[in-house]
Amino acid sequence: MERNNVTYDRRKTKNKALLKWLDKMVEMCGPKKVRWCDGSDKEWKQLCDLMVEQGSMIRLDEKKRPNSFLVRSDPRDVARVEGRTFICSFGKDEAGPTNNWEDPRKMRARLKKLFKGCMEGRVMYVIPFCMGPLGSPLSQFGIQVTDSPYVVLNLRIMTRMGKQVLDQMGEKDFFVPCLHSVGFPLSKGTKDVPWPCDPENTHIVHFPEQRTIVSYGSGYGGNALLGKKCLALRIASCMARDNDWMAEHMLILGVESPEGEKTYVAGAFPSACGKTNMAMLIPPQSMKGWKVSTVGDDIAWLKPDESGALRAINPEAGFFGVAPGTSWETNPNAMESMKANTLFTNVALTPDGDVWWEGLTPKPPDGLIDWRGEEWSAGSDAPAAHPNARFTAPASQCPTIDPDWENPDGVPVSAFIFGGRRMSDIPLVYQSFNWNHGVYLGATLASETTAAAEGALGNLRRDPMAMLPFCGYNMGDYFRHWIKMGKQLVEKPRVFHVNWFRKDSHGNFLWPGFCENMRVLRWIFERSIGRGRAHEVSLGWVPRKEDLDWSGLDFSAEQWEELMSIDPESLRMQTLRHEELFLQLSEFLPKEMLFERELLVSRL
Ligand code: OXD
Ligand code: MN
Repeated sequence: MERNNVTYDRRKTKNKALLKWLDKMVEMCGPKKVRWCDGSDKEWKQLCDLMVEQGSMIRLDEKKRPNSFLVRSDPRDVARVEGRTFICSFGKDEAGPTNNWEDPRKMRARLKKLFKGCMEGRVMYVIPFCMGPLGSPLSQFGIQVTDSPYVVLNLRIMTRMGKQVLDQMGEKDFFVPCLHSVGFPLSKGTKDVPWPCDPENTHIVHFPEQRTIVSYGSGYGGNALLGKKCLALRIASCMARDNDWMAEHMLILGVESPEGEKTYVAGAFPSACGKTNMAMLIPPQSMKGWKVSTVGDDIAWLKPDESGALRAINPEAGFFGVAPGTSWETNPNAMESMKANTLFTNVALTPDGDVWWEGLTPKPPDGLIDWRGEEWSAGSDAPAAHPNARFTAPASQCPTIDPDWENPDGVPVSAFIFGGRRMSDIPLVYQSFNWNHGVYLGATLASETTAAAEGALGNLRRDPMAMLPFCGYNMGDYFRHWIKMGKQLVEKPRVFHVNWFRKDSHGNFLWPGFCENMRVLRWIFERSIGRGRAHEVSLGWVPRKEDLDWSGLDFSAEQWEELMSIDPESLRMQTLRHEELFLQLSEFLPKEMLFERELLVSRL
């Protein structure tokens, strides 16, 4: 078929809805060529060679980091842009007060202008992908068209993609169409650049009723890899609401006792709380026989099975992790995962063709080239790696990957953990009294912000269920959906709140964290299977010191008291601060949330 003089192979699929959509995209974007992505090794190699040749990517040393590459982005395109992320539902109330909303007709008109001819001189890649294991009833198909080969390479790691997916999709007319362009057409005379983008006009747009995604102007992470935050969270949260399942910003891990009993927990943590570390936790050696396995580090899709118990899949196939702070000390499993076949973005380059970032080693090696491509020395003011530098690595390379991580039926989840970074007031761990109280814990989740995060309220950012930037509909309705799911579940996961970050009056952390978190995880495991001991305090159920496993760790009764202490007066103040978010949501808030707050205030 001729479109703008561009032909493409229509025999690849019999899917009429797909061909029809593609025709429209080709016509609008005007690429010089259309290429179907098959997900093969040959394609990977071709695109890597192409990007290296174009100067967009650096091949790392083949011995140190086989089949791995470094990419440097435009310094104006380094992170998700929440201010330019839109939920364009029919009505503003459907998006709710915590999302940017725009009238879908107006937005479509605006996007049409941006996309007209935006792929001139470029190849349009067509990427069939599947979120979730191929063949799982919980999985979803998407088709992303993009003019970025970098996106193709990332999606090959982060999703199941290519020919198999197209074949499985067959003639099904339901898939999520994902349109993406970096917004840098090569009109006559325009020279290409290593990282094309259009930061001034970036738009990340979701049309929840149509289940479609349109992204323009950015090539970075969640803005461009549309299967991740856009599909697997924002669009999927709407699908989940309509079909009685849950799409959550949660890690999934397995816990196994020395006796071989096993269960899974899912955990929601706002950014910068060590979520990937937690997903790959290695228990301390002194806790003999305890094992943790990894199912996912970022997103969970959960659905009740026939018996009314919740089962989860990880819709992703890779990790898109923050590099700075990751090391053989903090997360050996992440380090193993990125030993080969990995893309690095915005990290520093060593003289021997390997990568480096802040926190990888105590002392930086000499002769580094920083993420901007400039010579860097330890005396420099700016970091060598961008703070949001990333590694994209296949989950299958993680040594602790769970044997059931690709089970099409998912894994059974018996606990939810909510965790924030809280310097003061909040004890190490507590369990909710019941499901609705657990929903309240999630709904009031907050974390102390790093300087980079937007939207801070004081230094505390409310981030309900860690979903504030990722919920594709009204947050009040989202809480209601959680309450409703609780009513449907015969076997409800127990709900916990953790805080690894409490400090003493001198500013020292009260809890060692990292592998020692396994002691808390063991208690959570035992509570979830109805065995662990706890007593009641105002916040919920808490362990006494003797209820935790202390083998191999010296921790005094005084330290424990301080770590677990509850100051009713300051907690009452905290609870009043829940108002900030609740006021914003007021007219949409389920009455159960107000009721839980009243109960908490009276307990305090
Ligand atoms: C992420 C995020 O990158 O949550 O996973 O921001
Ligand atoms: Mn995330």
